[in-house]
Amino acid sequence: MKIIKAKDYDDMSRKAANIISAQIIMKPSCVLGLATGSTPIGTYARLVEQYQQGDLDFSGVTTVNLDEYKGLNRENDQSYYYFMNDNLFSKVNIDLKKTFLPDGMEPDAKKACEDYNRVIAATGGVDLQLLGLGHNGHIGFNEPGEVFEAETHCVDLTESTIAANKRFFASEEEVPRQAYTMGIKTIMQAKKILLVVSGADKASIVKEAFYGAITPRVQASVLQLHKDVIIVADEAALSEVCL
Ligand code: F6R
Repeated sequence: MKIIKAKDYDDMSRKAANIISAQIIMKPSCVLGLATGSTPIGTYARLVEQYQQGDLDFSGVTTVNLDEYKGLNRENDQSYYYFMNDNLFSKVNIDLKKTFLPDGMEPDAKKACEDYNRVIAATGGVDLQLLGLGHNGHIGFNEPGEVFEAETHCVDLTESTIAANKRFFASEEEVPRQAYTMGIKTIMQAKKILLVVSGADKASIVKEAFYGAITPRVQASVLQLHKDVIIVADEAALSEVCL
């Protein structure tokens, strides 16, 4: 596990974008696993800039996102499809037919999950998986529990995740209670993992996840077992650990 210290959020975003652009330059037909949430917004903005400057070509890239809320359609501005389109897909020359998220509008959870497992398998495997880190240690929507779930599954979001996400909705009642998410085995099968984390409010979970015991109670702790993980964290997020 390699931890790269960034000065602040902007520095973290630039460093993370440079790692992703290096991946695209080295393998133009790469498969990127993507995340939503507030942390990667700056990373996507830097990638868009690099594209606008003529330094990046997304035409060969395939993407698979980590997760999607169950019950939100693509036009809903809180859906993760909308987020990806708004922050990245509509701003670069990616082929939309090669961008994938779980189908939040599929009410049959078993079908939605099996379909998404097939989509991921058909890509041939993720070259670089981008991750954020939840305050409770979740990655994707793999919430604290007794086990590491293997593949795509339907999750009941925890109260803390619902509370953290309510800032994006008109009221807490509107936050979906369930989501489809890639499983831990699938995340761990990515050839390379890039986790971005920022802010003092994430400092204690950074310490617990990456310097503590490996346990499904802190799902991100499993990343300690992956052979190629890069964590780009700002000084505030690293304030409880010594580097
Ligand atoms: C988003 C995702 C989540 C977020 C996490 C951190 O696709 O999978 O695990 O990465 O909730 O969210 P932010 O960045 O908003 O703190």
